[in-house]
Order: sequence, then structure tokens, then C-alpha cells
Amino acid sequence: MEDNIFRQGYKISKMQRTSRNKHNAFLIWFTGLSGSGKSTLANQLELLLHNKGVSTYTLDGDNIRMGLNKDLSFTAADRSENIRRIAEVANLMVDAGLVVLAAFVSPFKKDRQNIREVVKGVNFVEVFVNTSIEACEQRDVKGLYKKARSGEIKNFTGIDSPYEVPETPDIEVTTENLTIEESVELIYNHIKPKLFSDYE
Ligand code: ADX
Repeated sequence: MEDNIFRQGYKISKMQRTSRNKHNAFLIWFTGLSGSGKSTLANQLELLLHNKGVSTYTLDGDNIRMGLNKDLSFTAADRSENIRRIAEVANLMVDAGLVVLAAFVSPFKKDRQNIREVVKGVNFVEVFVNTSIEACEQRDVKGLYKKARSGEIKNFTGIDSPYEVPETPDIEVTTENLTIEESVELIYNHIKPKLFSDYE
């Protein structure tokens, strides 16, 4: 299919875009169970970064599944396709000079590995939002665990669909022992050198 396709070169590069922004561009990927706090942390971290003058954008599983990926279900194959498309979109956004935050359950190791390959390891920060299934189920903010337990929803991560725990995430946030502010600070302290290293 790609036989007759040729990569086109453009005069403005990622480096020129990041120089103008005065910070590096990369992807901060939040993975964890539904209700673990991925979107909450991405939201608060984006606010902090924005207030520091960083150009950001957040991609969120629930939101993306209302538009770009509304044709996808929660089978293993569709989850992989969900993550594959987001990796490509995030890669373009990083190339555009943005710090991209992405909050997706992304339960499969091979799919998370694929993101790393698409955006290149140096541009990828994996944040494991480690909240126990018990805590997520107790919170049940969206009422989905209740529906999954009653069989109304099938293939629900942590109930009848697996979550493969990241073995070597760049950052692990154990939300049950930390406040939101502490969690955000932990992530910010980790990414700060990467963000401004070429521009101090
Ligand atoms: S992923 O597995 O493909 O990465 P994604 O992050 O896009 O999932 O979407 C997860 C969100 O969809 C959850 O936060 C939840 O609100 C909703 N959802 C609906 N059905 C399911 C399901 N079967 N498993 C997990 N999340 C589901």
C-alpha cells in the first residue's frame, strides 16, 4: 500500500518549533485502570504546565472515543487500534512542538511498547497511575464497575478484561498514598529537566 508514497520534506522543523516555544516537546502517557485518576492528574498537570508558559494538549480516552475513535469498541483488537491511532496523533503533536498528555487505560504491554516505538523512546514518559481495583471500584465515579459486575458491560478492564501492569514505568504514582497536588508535583519534578534542558 505504501509503495507509491514518498515522504515530503518541509522547511520548518520540530527544532524550530520547540525553539520558539522555549521548551522541549514530548509525550506524557498516563496508563491505569478506569477511575484510577489518569484524567484528573493529566488535567492538573496540564494546568500547571500551561501556567508556566508551556504549550500543551491533552488527549483523553473518553473524549477521543466520542470523535476520532467512535468506531472502536473495547475488544483487545479495537483497544490496540485505539492506542495505535493515538500514538500517531500524539507523534504529530510532539512534532508540532507540544507537550502532549494522554490519558488512556492502555491495558496491553505490546500497545504501550508500540507507542514508545512510534514517538521514539526519548519522547515518551510513561506514568503508571497505580490505584488498586478495590479503590477504583469503591470510587466508581462513572458507575461503570457496578454495570460491569452485573454483566451489563462486557470486557471491562480489571473485571473481565486484563490490565497488564507496567514493569518499568518512568514514573509510578500510588494515588492512594498521595494527594493530587503531591502526585502532580512528583510528575512535574521528574519531567522538569527534560522540559527545559536545552533552553536554560
Ligand atoms: S483503552 O483500553 O482503549 O485504552 P480508553 O482509555 O480509550 O480505553 O477508554 C476507557 C474509558 O472508557 C474508561 O475510562 C471508561 O469510562 C470507558 N469504558 C467503557 N467501557 C469500558 C470497558 N469495557 N473497559 C474499560 N473502560 C471502558
